[in-house]
Amino acid sequence: MKVIATNVDDSVALMREKIALGKSKGGFALDPYFYRSHLVHKNELSSILFKSWLYAAHVSEIPKAGDFVLFEVGEDSFIISRDKQGEVHALMNVCRHRGARVCEAQSGNTKTFVCPYHAWTYNSDGSMRSARHMGMLDGFDKEDYGLKKAKVSIFHGLIFINCDLDASDLEPAFMPINDQLAGYELDKAKIAHKQTYKVDANWKLCLENYLECYHCATAHKAYAKSHTLEDIYENVADQVEAMQKIAPEVTGIPGIANEHQKIYMGAESFGACAAASRYGLYEGYVTGSQDGKPVAPLMGKFKGYDGGTGDFHLGPVTFMLNYPDHCVLYRFIPRGLTETDMEVVWYVNGGAKEGVDYDVDRVTALWHNTTLEDEYIITRNSEGVNSQFFEPGPFHPEFEEVSMMFVDWYLDTLEKSVTRS
Ligand code: FES
Ligand SMILES: [Fe+2]
Repeated sequence: MKVIATNVDDSVALMREKIALGKSKGGFALDPYFYRSHLVHKNELSSILFKSWLYAAHVSEIPKAGDFVLFEVGEDSFIISRDKQGEVHALMNVCRHRGARVCEAQSGNTKTFVCPYHAWTYNSDGSMRSARHMGMLDGFDKEDYGLKKAKVSIFHGLIFINCDLDASDLEPAFMPINDQLAGYELDKAKIAHKQTYKVDANWKLCLENYLECYHCATAHKAYAKSHTLEDIYENVADQVEAMQKIAPEVTGIPGIANEHQKIYMGAESFGACAAASRYGLYEGYVTGSQDGKPVAPLMGKFKGYDGGTGDFHLGPVTFMLNYPDHCVLYRFIPRGLTETDMEVVWYVNGGAKEGVDYDVDRVTALWHNTTLEDEYIITRNSEGVNSQFFEPGPFHPEFEEVSMMFVDWYLDTLEKSVTRS
């Protein structure tokens, strides 16, 4: 982590003042304070990240009983496990004795999680199996010491977790984008590749970057050559609307181009943003590959290429870009004040064979390069916003509209968190 010149006067009062200033100056980028304050960072984790629906894993990563995979957020760790009955759990990776991590392996298969410290042992559903010699303690009951859990919801094979046990269910928020997503049959898809890009910047800079395409034409030459989102809508509207019209018939998926947008302040419930839209690719491109040519067999129920791509929001920090022959998931997770895990997952049809039906390098080329380009501009941005002399400028009303929506929700949520405290 980069050294941040700590503000020794940081306080809830200062945070309130900065939030009020930010809210009064709507339409401007965030004050550098929000990228530098340890107090803000702690509050973001408890009042935003741990109250939101977060993509944790795909069902294909834990197909069998006893399979597990770790998911790390901030300083925390969750074990996404499948129990004997086939049910999926999100277990907090913290021993109920004196708090050691009970699982170190990033993934694997096990009947039990044995704490490396004093060997308290847990089943794959998180319940306690045994605690050495603790029978001597009056009233000790194994039932009281299962691993703590987060809520789990699986949507088309994507496993989401929420640490707020009182959070509203995910389904009512996500159902309006069901038709647009169902055709890809992600529950039967296969992960062709996944990669964690460790970005040396605050998570909000990574997210704000993803949410706008003002930088696409300047930073992403290959993307801008093929995706109409790089231009203002007015210039590409005819082409996009023509594609949307033919999309259901060409792809064979009714409702594929239906628009839905309930995100941030407008989300159905807190941290359950859901959006779907379909935008066009320029002539000569049918998918998100470097040359625009197919890179894998069609996904799920797809019958053909409509010249479009599905753009999804699945919670506040998870997104998908879905082409007819492959899908790309993005997730932004803070690991420290200036450290973010930018996770990218490429899915292909579950029946596709690597080396025969697809080549990993061809499937991943466009978005791997685009992600490296983003990493470059985000880290430059990080250096700039951490300057003593940075003064936030105005967002572009169309290109940066969604980043602005995020900032509004962010300030509002943070404000509520400090009003409560
Ligand atoms: S901390 Fe896990 S058994 Fe003691
Ligand atoms: Fe970008």
